[in-house]
Amino acid sequence: MDNPVSLRRDGNVAIITVDNPPVNALRHGVRKGLFECFTQARDDASVEAIVVTGAGRTFVAGADITEFGKPSQPPGLMDVISLIDDISKPTIAAVHGTPLGGGLELTMGCHFRVAAAGTRLGLPEIKLGLIPGAGGTQRLPRLVGVEKALPMILSGDPIPAKDALAAGLVDEIVEGDLVTGAVAFARKVLAEKRPLTRVKDREEKLKNIRANPQKFDEIVAQHAKKTRGLHAPAAAIEAIRMTLDTPIDEAQKKERELFLKLVVGDQSKAQRHIFFAEREAAKVPGIGKDVAPREIKRAAVIGAGTMGGGISMNFANVGIPVTIIENDEAALKRGMATIEKNYQMSVQRGSLTPENMGKRLALFNPTTDLNALKDADIVIEAVFENMPVKKELFGKIEKIAKKGAVLATNTSYLNVDEIAQVTSRVPDVLGMHFFSPANVMKLLEIVRGKDTAPDVLATAMAVGRKINKVPVVVGVCHGFVGNRMLSARGIEAEKLLLEGALPQDVDGALTEFGFPMGPFAMSDLAGIDVGWRSRKERGVRAEIADTLAEAGRFGQKTGKGFYLYEGRSPRPDPEVEKLIVDASVRLGVTRRNVSKEEIIERLIYPMVNEGARILEEGIATRPGDIDVVWLYGYGFPAWRGGPMHWADTVGLKKIRDRLRQLARESGDKRHEPAALLNKLADEGGTFADYARQKAA
Ligand code: 3HC
Repeated sequence: MDNPVSLRRDGNVAIITVDNPPVNALRHGVRKGLFECFTQARDDASVEAIVVTGAGRTFVAGADITEFGKPSQPPGLMDVISLIDDISKPTIAAVHGTPLGGGLELTMGCHFRVAAAGTRLGLPEIKLGLIPGAGGTQRLPRLVGVEKALPMILSGDPIPAKDALAAGLVDEIVEGDLVTGAVAFARKVLAEKRPLTRVKDREEKLKNIRANPQKFDEIVAQHAKKTRGLHAPAAAIEAIRMTLDTPIDEAQKKERELFLKLVVGDQSKAQRHIFFAEREAAKVPGIGKDVAPREIKRAAVIGAGTMGGGISMNFANVGIPVTIIENDEAALKRGMATIEKNYQMSVQRGSLTPENMGKRLALFNPTTDLNALKDADIVIEAVFENMPVKKELFGKIEKIAKKGAVLATNTSYLNVDEIAQVTSRVPDVLGMHFFSPANVMKLLEIVRGKDTAPDVLATAMAVGRKINKVPVVVGVCHGFVGNRMLSARGIEAEKLLLEGALPQDVDGALTEFGFPMGPFAMSDLAGIDVGWRSRKERGVRAEIADTLAEAGRFGQKTGKGFYLYEGRSPRPDPEVEKLIVDASVRLGVTRRNVSKEEIIERLIYPMVNEGARILEEGIATRPGDIDVVWLYGYGFPAWRGGPMHWADTVGLKKIRDRLRQLARESGDKRHEPAALLNKLADEGGTFADYARQKAA
């Protein structure tokens, strides 16, 4: 029987427990159970106070996201909260874990809230492209004031229990057993005959802002910087603004309308897709819960350059000692100085205490002795991107590394199987591809070699999560998922310059689309010389990028690249324009006007096509994995859901037909639609359909 909510008694106190693993989400059965139990407790004259709590790892972590977009079945969460609102006995929410979204809204229907130490409370709806839809935008400001509520709702970030206590969101922190503490709290309330003011009737915290309504816009201006193109933040601000002058019942109705509009919108659908895609990516075919990861107590990173330094910081940041190895003292010193500078910047920003910086630095063992990797449980090679160099190094590593150590390469393009072959422990080898800056970017592509052992893969996944990355398993091919698709985009970006666009046109179209920066600004940041060298090795040429590199324009580091730099801000350079126009003339291309729409199609459709090939070849397991890669590694806007989800919203037939046209017009075979894309387009299907069929 579906009975996720139960009621028991501790003397005169009723205890209502939600037990709906894993996170007690408020699916229909839970709402119904809550409604029934609260009604029963309300009507039972022998019950003098009511405690609501959650079983398992957390109190209710929100509405059930899988129910969004489906017809809703009564009672709604608002019905439950209205019922609790009208109960004249003390109601107390006893929370632990992560009371989030609808879960926190439920607690704000109660008179009081007590929390276990370590609880994190928040309204994360904005991360799903939504706003709180069951009174959160009205009740949180009534408990903590607009000054605190607005940033909480706009960021979606939860706050720790002690901050919640200080802000007035929580009335007491319970040490020891939570329910026992909550029952004791209830008895105290009864004994002291504390007034039972409903949260909806609390007005004290709003007095100030109501007297100075112009302050509202100041608070908004402080916190609403990064909301370009997004619908939910504007709706959240509109809803919170109602606390200034709109009666709460009317405001809650309006909040609900805003919420319902967002739920059916494309942005929220995309963000919900990403929420589930990220969790799906953690599930690796063939690696069940029975595959235990190896224990990782020490790490070694070879290479103290930009990548190696960033990678080692990830380990030190979570308390894992890390040996960092370089060829010569000077390079090692430079690497450690950069690491220290990075930490110092965090201290200046206030995100790291000087004491913790000291603790982290103490975890580094910098050395030029390769033998120092002998104690490491995981060794990550992050040296120059060159196959013979890497092979030679792996030959040495395997002679020193201890038995059972995971041996990883941070290569961004090269064949991991070929590298593994030089060792006598092929199953221990895999790729761990970090993204620059490696201490910041969340993505970690884990490259599964054809003979990588399941527990080695499980270890890399576990390590990835431990160091706060989003790991995605990919297969071996040139560039794996991310860079392979990036390269499809890069080729088109160059062609667009030759055909008539300028760097600022191409970058502008992509930033308008929602990327933090376009391909040319990105090239300037990474260094144009990097791609130039790699192309020279492969015997290929990118006319414009290579001409710039030959002129010593390497990007930001030389103050000139596709743009001119003063500091970090790019300025279009007439010299570059001339150089581009000359290149078009040299190659006999007649320049023309290129629209923004064409730029988006030309840059992103080939990526989708490459993504389809990646799926056909089994390099990525699911379209959602590709979306997660692009979101966390390359800044694809979350509200567009990643390239594959976005392609579904555009329509695969439209994309396929345009690619066919491009292939015809340019004679470029890469634009021939992938078989999977053709099939789905013919069927009127989507990548989401493909994922469902594959999972079934
Ligand atoms: N609805 C449905 N399923 C959910 C869920 C939710 N709100 N929250 C988590 N889950 C599922 C996950 O999909 C995952 O399923 P899986 O095991 O099949 O992959 C499982 O629960 C465990 O989740 P995590 O792997 O994320 O577990 P963690 O322990 O790492 O994190 C968490 C727990 C912090 C609660 C995290 O899951 C989370 O942030 N959840 C979303 C919370 C949220 O956004 N709540 C607001 C929802 S919107 C809302 O409430 C609207 C209201 O205002 C009306």
